[in-house]
Amino acid sequence: LSNRSEDIQQGAKKRWGCWCHLLTLFLFLIFATSVIILEADPSQFSFTHKSAPKLEKHKYFVEYPHEYHFVINEPEKCKQQKPFLVLMVPVAPQNRGHRNNIRSTWGNESTVLGKVVKLFFLLGLPTGKGAEQVQQQVLQESREHQDLIQSDFVDCYKNLTIKTMMILEWLDSYCSSASYAMKIDSDTFLNLDNLINMLLNAPKINYMTGMVECNAVVSRDPSSKWYLPVEVFPEPKYPCYSIGMGYILSLDLPRKVVHSSKHNKALYIEDVYLGMCMKYLGILPTHPPDLNCFHYIPVLYDRCAYSKLIITTTYEHTDHVWVWKDFKRSGPFCIDETQ
Ligand SMILES: *[C@@H]1O[C@H](CO)[C@@H](O)[C@H](O)[C@H]1NC(C)=O
Ligand SMILES: *[C@@H]1O[C@H](CO)[C@@H](O)[C@H](O)[C@H]1NC(C)=O
Repeated sequence: LSNRSEDIQQGAKKRWGCWCHLLTLFLFLIFATSVIILEADPSQFSFTHKSAPKLEKHKYFVEYPHEYHFVINEPEKCKQQKPFLVLMVPVAPQNRGHRNNIRSTWGNESTVLGKVVKLFFLLGLPTGKGAEQVQQQVLQESREHQDLIQSDFVDCYKNLTIKTMMILEWLDSYCSSASYAMKIDSDTFLNLDNLINMLLNAPKINYMTGMVECNAVVSRDPSSKWYLPVEVFPEPKYPCYSIGMGYILSLDLPRKVVHSSKHNKALYIEDVYLGMCMKYLGILPTHPPDLNCFHYIPVLYDRCAYSKLIITTTYEHTDHVWVWKDFKRSGPFCIDETQ
């Protein structure tokens, strides 16, 4: 009995062993087949989807509107001097060299063709190493020149939209009696005579001009500096906007644009964002009468060429003061003209 029962037990073990092998083989076949299929086209199987990296939408927007305050202000300047045109130059706190260049070149023109022109620099707060020292120098510079306006947001490239909106808020609060304002970058040459001449015949309200771009395609290339994912900006093209290097607004617009910004999330690309706000208002930026007056690509200094334009960007190592002196000397601008 004992033998027999052993036999039976042994037999059961063997049979069980057999099933085991079959089952293993079967499972292996299923596994192998699924691996082959999955390798062929993994997207057919939802369980293989890795969850996409979370879209960091906040990267494309800035903190605006927000309760920013002016740390340095010039609240009386416009009331006292009643400018026709206000030049607003965004510049980083530490870039005193740029400000000095402008002060001794186109920023030193206080009356042009009988019109009063005022200049202000717009700064945010310095950050990083030495920020406190930079801030002390900025306060000193403000006492010397009384042309700085500083607001309490962190000054960095990504925050340029905040700076632009602070410019508009400031214009609306402290300079709304001026006729026009120009936001102008610091690395530019400005021919104020030509600008004032253009403005003397320009519309007085709902007017924005500059280098107007109406067909710019939104970059979907993640490596581009201006990349915007579809989820952030669904339209394939930007609205019409004036390129940021230098644009002009009639003084009724700052309030309207600030108002419309409450209905448009603040995109970090400042000039496009203004275009979005203008679109919301139903106002299109206007091309200047002479399309050749605004140069986004630097025009190499030439007295004759510079006498015909309104604004151009400049090459990095330009000696602005020398250029200005040469431009302002007496004598005809162009050889074939007697002026
Ligand atoms: C600004 O122009 C005036 C003359 O109108 C001149 O005396 C002064 O030196 C200029 N300032 C700078 C910083 O170049
Ligand atoms: C922009 O400014 C805000 C307000 O000061 C700040 O919180 C934010 O960090 C700044 N952005 C960058 C990219 O530094």
